[in-house]
Amino acid sequence: MNLTLHVWRQKNASSAGKMVKYDAKDINPEMSFLEMLDVVNEGLIVRGEEPIAFEHDCREGICGSCGFVISGVAHGPQPGTTVCQLHMRHFKDGDVLYLEPWRAKAFPVLKDLVVDRSAFDRIIAAGGYVSVSTGSAPDGNAVPVPKVNADQSMDSAACIACGACVASCPNASASLFTGAKISHLGLLPQGQPERMRRAESMVAQMNEELFGSCTNIGECEAVCPKGIRLEVIARMNRDFIKASFTHRDEVAEAG
Ligand code: SF4
Ligand code: FES
Repeated sequence: MNLTLHVWRQKNASSAGKMVKYDAKDINPEMSFLEMLDVVNEGLIVRGEEPIAFEHDCREGICGSCGFVISGVAHGPQPGTTVCQLHMRHFKDGDVLYLEPWRAKAFPVLKDLVVDRSAFDRIIAAGGYVSVSTGSAPDGNAVPVPKVNADQSMDSAACIACGACVASCPNASASLFTGAKISHLGLLPQGQPERMRRAESMVAQMNEELFGSCTNIGECEAVCPKGIRLEVIARMNRDFIKASFTHRDEVAEAG
């Protein structure tokens, strides 16, 4: 199959970018989208041109490195699929596609389709862990966890920190990502001692990084390749509000 690509090319973070047209010729429909870009890049290298920069690592949909916008949709048209797992058979011969990086103030473009997502790392560093001593691995049945909590925690832990939710949100909100990280620990017994502090610190860091606020639009849930549900945002908000009340009570008691 043959396609026409319009790709965002930007030399570095400080230069202006623009769309550049490329032909992707003789593409095997069984190739992944990134393999198709590899073929285009091989042609560019042979012609002495700069290859298109894009991020990737596992190419199995689990690391969260890859991701860009394909014709207006983060990770492209196939629901529940990262761009590395998207195959060319989902496109038609002759298609014209527009490839752009995530667009958000908190994710500055570094080069072409690569953005700086270190803001996510700083949100995790603010509280997305269990720091209290939980001892060595307990017997599987020693700490009972309700099935519904275990399932919801596992579902939240599926977030791969790709950033598609931010890129799709008109407010560039990181609420789905942060809510997933807060939920995955906050639903388990091991996550309880730091639960309120975690919610407070991670939400504060999210605001610090200039992500926008959630206004319940739901685009994040629609594009998330891991099926993270909006309910994680409700859980994050509940924990954050509870944490604020806890502090207010502490201040009142001290006063
Ligand atoms: S919530 Fe979904 S879209 Fe957002 S970072 Fe996690 S996996 Fe990606
Ligand atoms: S390269 Fe790892 S999720 Fe796509």
